Amino acid sequence: MNSSGDIRVTRAQIEDARILAETCKRAFDSDLEVGAPGPGGPPGYDSVEWNGSRIVNPYLQYYKILKGETIVGGFIAGDRGLGYQVCERIWVDPDHMREGIGQRTFEIVWEGYPQADLWTLGTPEWNVRTNPFYQKLGFVKIGTTHEYPHWSGNYYEKSITNGFPRAMSTIEALRPGLNQVVVEGLVETMQSPRTVFSRKTGEELKVVNAILRDGTGSIRLVLWNDQIRQVKEHSRIRLENGYVREYRDDIQLGVGEWGVIITLVSSEGT
Ligand SMILES: CC(C)(COP(=O)(O)OP(=O)(O)OC[C@H]1O[C@@H](n2cnc3c(N)ncnc32)[C@H](O)[C@@H]1OP(=O)(O)O)[C@@H](O)C(=O)NCCC(=O)NCCS
Repeated sequence: MNSSGDIRVTRAQIEDARILAETCKRAFDSDLEVGAPGPGGPPGYDSVEWNGSRIVNPYLQYYKILKGETIVGGFIAGDRGLGYQVCERIWVDPDHMREGIGQRTFEIVWEGYPQADLWTLGTPEWNVRTNPFYQKLGFVKIGTTHEYPHWSGNYYEKSITNGFPRAMSTIEALRPGLNQVVVEGLVETMQSPRTVFSRKTGEELKVVNAILRDGTGSIRLVLWNDQIRQVKEHSRIRLENGYVREYRDDIQLGVGEWGVIITLVSSEGT
């Protein structure tokens, strides 16, 4: 049944955190029926504190989905650069799933971002509900992510305009001091991991230097600890939330705490 006509999407307030956490918990707990390898959900999904902190986070836009006056779900949007939006999370209470609400929510949100070139999002590869949902909405799988050791994520994007996204840099254009860098390239070489000790904490760290190349040039890419297993030599990757720093007369690219490493479809299986 499609009854999505009376759906509204408005900014969430801190007093909505409890009901949003409850609907979110119910929605993600139902993932067990659609392929989840075990119970649970994404970080903070059932926590009033986590949801409250996201509602007031100035770098996110947290929306509630209303059917009449009832909160039936949520949508968290984030920015990855100029005109580059990410759907960090969307959910619909299981009592209202399959009524067209998720689809209507995206349509309403898109209208609110006329400046967006591109929307992206990630979802677990095992999820037999979200993958068809995003495909129906026109998202195209561009690659996979390997943030979690036991399963991969599918990374989707929907281009709103044609052409090279404004948020994306060529390697030639990378300059020291840049943050929130989005860049794609071929991982030409990867050195063996080295062990170093943090100057600040004394902690033991693993580090790998790689060379990333596109049609305009190449740059040293520095990968730390868990980032190392997410990248394979000779694959094509996209980095989001990268940063560029000067180091010993050279410039190097790193992946920040909120960074994402995507293995692009064009290089899978190689
Ligand atoms: C993903 C989710 C938001 C979809 O919301 P929804 O309101 O139920 O989706 P809609 O009713 O708008 O569905 C639109 C289309 O998506 C596809 N779809 C939705 N649910 C599906 C399912 N269970 N199986 C296969 N396709 C499905 C269908 O093509 C559907 O169109 P149709 O009903 O005309 O066939 C909802 O299932 C959810 O909250 N899931 C749990 C949380 C989650 O995984 N969130 C996303 C990850 S961040």
